[in-house]
Amino acid sequence: MPKITYIDSSGNKKTIEVQDGLTVMEGAIQNNIPGIDADCGGGMACATCHVYVKDKWLDKLSEIEDGERDMIDMAFEPKKNSRLSCQIIVSSELEGLEVTTPKKQT
Ligand code: FES
Repeated sequence: MPKITYIDSSGNKKTIEVQDGLTVMEGAIQNNIPGIDADCGGGMACATCHVYVKDKWLDKLSEIEDGERDMIDMAFEPKKNSRLSCQIIVSSELEGLEVTTPKKQT
């Protein structure tokens, strides 16, 4: 199972193994990672799963869809490396992925 590192806005890290096929959001929920609430359950309708993806991983992620982009535009402090963690599906290609939660999501 790929290891995913979740980093909060203060720099505290938690690395967990997430099963292939789950989303980065689901991995966070199952492991009580603070800062990822996922209020809409992965429906791309809340942006409470917003994360910043470390640059070296951006190319390995699927293309961002219009619906995700629209939701990120409404999120707190969107950046060019913003993604919705409910749209990132874990696979072996993402071994070592690091995502950081925004300051407002604590
Ligand atoms: S869980 Fe609501 S947009 Fe990702």
